[in-house]
Amino acid sequence: MLTRCTARSLASPARLFSTSAARHTKVAVLGAGGGIGQPLSLLLKADPLVSSLSLYDIRGAPGVAADVSHVDTPSEVCGYPADKLDNALDGVEVVVIPAGVPRKPGMTRDDLFNTNASIVRDLASSIGRVSPKAHILVISNPVNSTVPIVASTLAKAGVYDPKRVFGVTTLDVVRAARFTASIAGVHPNETPITVVGGHSGATIVPLLSQSVHGKNIKGEAYEKLVYRIQFGGDEVVKAKDGAGSATLSMAYAGAKFTSALLRALNGEKGVITPTFVESPLFKDKGIDFFSSNVELGVNGVERIFPLGHVSAQEEKLLEACFPELKKNIEKGRAFVDNA
Ligand code: NAD
Ligand code: LMR
Repeated sequence: MLTRCTARSLASPARLFSTSAARHTKVAVLGAGGGIGQPLSLLLKADPLVSSLSLYDIRGAPGVAADVSHVDTPSEVCGYPADKLDNALDGVEVVVIPAGVPRKPGMTRDDLFNTNASIVRDLASSIGRVSPKAHILVISNPVNSTVPIVASTLAKAGVYDPKRVFGVTTLDVVRAARFTASIAGVHPNETPITVVGGHSGATIVPLLSQSVHGKNIKGEAYEKLVYRIQFGGDEVVKAKDGAGSATLSMAYAGAKFTSALLRALNGEKGVITPTFVESPLFKDKGIDFFSSNVELGVNGVERIFPLGHVSAQEEKLLEACFPELKKNIEKGRAFVDNA
């Protein structure tokens, strides 16, 4: 069953928003019925740069779409059930993927690989076929592996463009800002922290030395802060006690990154944020994907920034990050390449 909005969602953005000069965008959420997908869909409904929202899930997306569609912003919302993925992807320019299972206490993100790898591969394969020019924002864990899975799947189909595939590591950036601000006693706006590497434990490397407030946090307080940024996800998994992992803060972070990309696609200059992309920075170490500050532009990735000055402590964190990240990336690639 398709919701009645389908026909209208195919109308051109120009017709839907003839009063504005902005280039509005059709966005799809795959996994829209889930713990992240629902609040993320709500937040995207409120984004003025979204003209149309395509909500897809193997369970419950039409209901979420009906609910979200009543919010009084102009974007169209369509919900698509399990067998309508191609319809959901038709004409989309940005696809956000929070589909897949979350952790339970005692699990690592890598423990999700066996279930989520094929979910993400199959979704990427459909995107490559139906909307090969779409920008793909991967939330599903383990991000260090699912992003290479998306890249390799698209490459196999001959439609991979490294400028358009992103691992969403914004939750690490959000946590780093929040935790640092609470130690420094300032507003989180004053503590933007560049977080580099990947998205799991030791692969998450906060560059606190580059922050006006972060660089003053020393000794045990520094060690504890780094640990909290690296293992903040575990805090939530433990507190939810078997009911899943971060959903609300992730929806916030996912909407924040999507909004940054939409602003850049609309021509805003100077949109810079960390994200996990195919990167030249550590290719000499065999690491093809890495999160660092990236300038977003009308074509997606515009420029990948080097790390800049890092402290001796951060050098050590990077040394710990590299082998794990390399292993995670290779595992993702092998899953597609050896299939
Ligand atoms: P959830 O179980 O609440 O929701 C997942 C949704 O995906 C469900 O509605 C399910 O029906 C749907 N789904 C499963 N297979 C699908 C498919 N083939 N196509 C479309 N939808 C499908 O889980 P959640 O809490 O929303 O977490 C989702 C994922 O996001 C997990 O892998 C989790 O680890 C990850 N996550 C990542 C970050 C990050 O920082 N990148 C943060 C939090 C969670
Ligand atoms: C997070 O960082 O909260 C997510 O990756 C979910 C998790 O499994 O911890």
